[in-house]
Amino acid sequence: MELREEMLSKLLIEAERVLRNSYAPYSNVRVASAILSEGGRVYTGVNVENSSYGLTMCAERSAVSAMISGGDRSIIAIAIVTDYPEPLMPCGACRQVIVEFSQNPLIVSYSTSTNRVYTVRLSDIFPKPFKLMK
Ligand code: THU
Repeated sequence: MELREEMLSKLLIEAERVLRNSYAPYSNVRVASAILSEGGRVYTGVNVENSSYGLTMCAERSAVSAMISGGDRSIIAIAIVTDYPEPLMPCGACRQVIVEFSQNPLIVSYSTSTNRVYTVRLSDIFPKPFKLMK
C-alpha cells in the first residue's frame, strides 16, 4: 500500500483526537497512537497506567491490540502523539510488538506542547529485532 502525505496528517489528527482519553495519573505523560493498517484502516490507542506501575500499557501496544482485534495484521505507519515536550519514540517492548506486525513501518511522532515532529523508519531505531520463523 502506498503511503500518502495526507494519510500521515490523518494519523496524527486521529491520535491527537484520542489523546484526552489517556489514563496517566502517575506520570502525567499523556500518549496516544494511531496505526494505519495494510487494509487502509486506522486504529487508535492510548497509554493506560496502573497503580502497580509495571502493569502500565503504552499507547502503541494499545493501538496494536485494537488493530488485531479489528482483524488487520499489518502496520504501514504508526503515529505517536504526546503532551510531553519532546516527541516520544516507542519503548523497547513496543518496538518488539510493532515488528511482529510490520515490515519497517514509518513512525511519526509529535509533541502537542512544542509542535516538534520526528519521523523515522522502525529499522532506524530497531535494526536487529528478535524474530522466529512463522
Ligand atoms: N509511554 C507510551 O505510551 N508510549 C511510549 O512510546 C513511551 C511511554 C507511556 C508509558 C507511561 O504511561 C508514560 O508514557 C510515561 O512513561
